[in-house]
Amino acid sequence: PGKSTEIRPFGPDTIAAAAALIRDGQPVAVPTETVYGLAADATNAAAVARIYEAKGRPSFNPLIVHVLDLASAEHLGTFSADARALAEQHWPGPLTLVVPLAENSPIASLVTAGLPTVALRVPAHPAMRALLEASGRPLAAPSANASGRISPTRTAHVLASLNGRIPLVIDGGQTAHGLESTIVAMTGGPPRLLRPGPIDIASAVATVSDKVEAPGMLASHYAPAKPLRLNAIDAAPGEWLIGFGPVAGDVSLSPSGDLAEAAARLFDLLHDADANGAPAIAVAPIPDHGIGRAINDRLARAAAPRQ
Ligand code: TXA
Ligand code: MG
Repeated sequence: PGKSTEIRPFGPDTIAAAAALIRDGQPVAVPTETVYGLAADATNAAAVARIYEAKGRPSFNPLIVHVLDLASAEHLGTFSADARALAEQHWPGPLTLVVPLAENSPIASLVTAGLPTVALRVPAHPAMRALLEASGRPLAAPSANASGRISPTRTAHVLASLNGRIPLVIDGGQTAHGLESTIVAMTGGPPRLLRPGPIDIASAVATVSDKVEAPGMLASHYAPAKPLRLNAIDAAPGEWLIGFGPVAGDVSLSPSGDLAEAAARLFDLLHDADANGAPAIAVAPIPDHGIGRAINDRLARAAAPRQ
């Protein structure tokens, strides 16, 4: 706190500087194909502590570890044949697998918040991949926002809650998916969907978990500061209406009713709605299929009474 945060465009010099910070135990904000992450060396407990500190995150909430490939992931976690098949099908990409920790896993216990499992993901974004390669470390990276706030899809969102709290943001423009990764637990027994996301594998392999297994599933996790009303077909007085398809609104997630476009714009429009002069936010109905399920999951949390 107090120090200023540098923003540098993604490129070789920026990655070299970021990797030096990572090896020095500092956290760096970096784009992924889902949202911006706040990355630190997952084998260095002090570095991981700086993530929790910058985010103001409760220490019981474990972090996702990012690696370059499945072989690296298998040093950190234990993969069943089913888990390996899912990984091979979807990595690199927006899928996180929760698996048992490998024996002698070098991951700092602060990353898993003491759990016997670890959340692993192989990202596709070139900036995150370049940082993994240059630093040579597995990178713990939650979304780069203060705990409980909306996830960042561009650098301005990162700065909105972390400016002065981290040394560097790598600017890679707007993220492609705009929603956090799908999380599936493969820890024995049937696979369980812990968080819906860009990869819609629920119908095929995962049964929806009915208990709060990931703290990110807490009802009010994704929260704008203003009250939010769902399934609105027009605006009440004072409301800023975020439209979709036939509901035009003040702005629209997707005038043509394209769910992927809506997902990519969701957090962006929520950030803007939270920052403008209107006292309240309303959002048009979103069809509950495909990635629409992930959008409605985030919207339901954003609208839930604050805990
Ligand atoms: O798309 C993403 O996944 C982004 C980018 C940066 O990769 N990261 C992200 O991380 O969304 P985060 O920390 O905001 O969300 C991680 C979720 C949390 O809900 C956490 O509780 C859950 O993963 N999680 C992590 N480790 C877990 C474990 N061992 N068991 C169950 N849930 C776990
Ligand atoms: Mg988050």
